[in-house]
Amino acid sequence: MKNQMLFGAMVLCCGFNTVLAQQDDPDWPNWAYGYFESLQETDPNIYQVPPCPEMANPRSCGPVGTPLVDDGVKHSLPGTSLTFTRVEANYSWQPADWYPGDHPDMPEIIAIGDMERGIRPCSLCHFPNGQGKVENGHVSGLPANYILQQLEAFKNGERISADYRKANTNEMARIAAWLTDEEKSQVAEYYSSLPFRSMVRVVESEQAPQVRASLNRLTMPDEEVPWQPLGDYIVEVTENLEETEIMRNPRGTFIAYVPVGSIAKGEALVTTGAGKTILCGACHGLDLKGLGDVPSIAGRTTSYLMRQMWDVKQGTRVSLLMTSVLANLNAEDMMNISAYLATQAP
Ligand code: HEC
Ligand code: HEC
Repeated sequence: MKNQMLFGAMVLCCGFNTVLAQQDDPDWPNWAYGYFESLQETDPNIYQVPPCPEMANPRSCGPVGTPLVDDGVKHSLPGTSLTFTRVEANYSWQPADWYPGDHPDMPEIIAIGDMERGIRPCSLCHFPNGQGKVENGHVSGLPANYILQQLEAFKNGERISADYRKANTNEMARIAAWLTDEEKSQVAEYYSSLPFRSMVRVVESEQAPQVRASLNRLTMPDEEVPWQPLGDYIVEVTENLEETEIMRNPRGTFIAYVPVGSIAKGEALVTTGAGKTILCGACHGLDLKGLGDVPSIAGRTTSYLMRQMWDVKQGTRVSLLMTSVLANLNAEDMMNISAYLATQAP
């Protein structure tokens, strides 16, 4: 137990040191990590500075949030007869399972987690159906071996976020370090057996809604706000704030506003290499839906795709093959690639 705690602290400490210097980069894609501004410009009150990890309450290592107060009001979602209060839907140690018919029985570590070991359940972030959200990842349909490899990478410090503020990735690493071998095979088998469906609609646009940064993601404001020029980045948000973010609808969808022209530029890079990179299909399959243990990259959210490429580029996610693929690509290329890949059927 003690070693695990030490390990968690090491991951946090080292991520911090490398990142502070680099994040001055004007091309840094803060949008993909859920921010508008660089680490240096961010108000530290909206993210919590580790080190923690206080085993009994790993929540305290996460970003600072306003605790929800249970008002007793039951809510529902389309296509289910179940009802939950907001607090029940978000409960850290067994969040709502809105559509039990969408998936087989969940292993305990996915449904409930283990409070004693400080492992919050996978379904809290990736949902019971493995679809996940823009700020975490999409684990359904991934090859079981790839899931196991990634859990190892998180555990060994070979996959940490390039952005120190990203508390949920830090938590993911701690979870991977604390799982037993049996739990690892259970989760790999469970999530790899589920289908992944596209959950993001990509729209080229000169303008996007004004959004705010909130707990590692960009989020829609509660009320109508004027749109503003999009600039040269992507704004990816849920299509329904109340249902997806507050009530945690695992069937929820997202919309990515991407700069005009970005999809075609991304397509050229992905399908021809455009003289700058290797064809993605060579390893990810011609349809980009994965090949052997190499994961699918089609139809995933733009923020997730961008973060992975950027993390590899910064060296905080170790991937020998992807490092050479990305060697001549800059932040704009990777953003265009993300826009194109998100339009592809998974
Ligand atoms: C607190 C939220 C949280 C919990 C709980 C959580 N994860 Fe994650 N997980 C993440 C985040 C965040 C990422 C993506 C990291 C990134 O984008 O940098 C991730 C990524 C992953 C990936 C990599 C996906 C890919 O395509 O490479 C796998 C596999 C994974 N998680 C499995 C699990 C399993 C299994 C559990 C439960 C034992 C779990 N996660 C619990 C937040 C969480
Ligand atoms: C030479 C083989 C190879 C080529 C070519 C390649 N990839 Fe990959 N890619 C991988 C492997 C293998 C992984 C899994 C990580 C690992 O094992 O290193 C990966 C992982 C990824 C991931 C992260 C997926 C996840 O679930 O987290 C993204 C995104 C990605 N690649 C995008 C691309 C894009 C875009 C291209 C083309 C420009 C490309 N890759 C070309 C081998 C390749």
